[in-house]
Amino acid sequence: MAYMLFNNDIMERSNCVDVEDRGYQFGDGIYEVIGVYSGQSMLMDEHLERLERSANEIQLNLPYTMPELKRQLIRLAQLNQLEEGIIYLQVSRGAGPRWHEFPKDTVPAVTVAYTREEKRMTNVEDNGGTAVLTEDIRWLRCDIKSLNLLPNVLAKQKAVEKNAVEAILHRDKIVTEASASNVFIVKNDTIYTHPANNYILNGITRQKVLELCHELELPFHEDTFTIEQLLNADEVFVTATKSDIIPILKIDDHLIGHGKPGDITHYLLKHFRKFINQVENNLDPS
Ligand code: PDD
Repeated sequence: MAYMLFNNDIMERSNCVDVEDRGYQFGDGIYEVIGVYSGQSMLMDEHLERLERSANEIQLNLPYTMPELKRQLIRLAQLNQLEEGIIYLQVSRGAGPRWHEFPKDTVPAVTVAYTREEKRMTNVEDNGGTAVLTEDIRWLRCDIKSLNLLPNVLAKQKAVEKNAVEAILHRDKIVTEASASNVFIVKNDTIYTHPANNYILNGITRQKVLELCHELELPFHEDTFTIEQLLNADEVFVTATKSDIIPILKIDDHLIGHGKPGDITHYLLKHFRKFINQVENNLDPS
């Protein structure tokens, strides 16, 4: 039997959505995707901290503390005997008569979480994939992990139709991030990624990769770069929960570097996997 978290209760998984849930009707809510490796959740505290931040930014009251929610999510993953996969968590502003403005305070937020088995993407992580470039048509608060993902969905579909793993987004000439991951380039042994501002989601994987760069003394800058710099980079990679680090070998018709995963990408992936091993052995403090 599969279980889900519904508000404060863990129950048998059902597909029941209130037709007037604001997440369903307006995308009025927030979410997180948390990776699980060998039964251990990864960077759960960081994900829940970001959830809390997203909630504050859209004035959504969470009716529990993050330690309480964390306990429930860990229990859910255990009950579902999740070994390898993700915990999906979303909180909507609740269900109420459909008016655009916030419902009255008496309408509580609706929290739903479930788990999904997902194999590791080691093949594409090791061998890389291709990407397409497309315009970033999203709103100006991409730092909020909002349920509104239509532009991301359309961008990812473009990628999939070209057998690409990601759609890299640009606003004017500046590369922001990708449809569901952050983008890094390497030029002359220095790593660049878009600064964590309102134009991108500050990925938990992105932050871990930057921490690794710091520890490994790899020079890096949180600086914007242009499409031209992207296409002329020595290496390009994208980062996200569960897909970790994926080398990008080709963008549209442009080969990146030698069209093979680069040395720095490979080195970071090796160290990222070391960190995953620590999580698997329950040595990660979160
Ligand atoms: N997406 N940027 C966007 C737009 C994203 O949707 C994601 C993650 C990321 C990477 O964030 P993180 O490292 O915290 O996963 C960056 C998740 C995985 C999703 O929507 O499924």
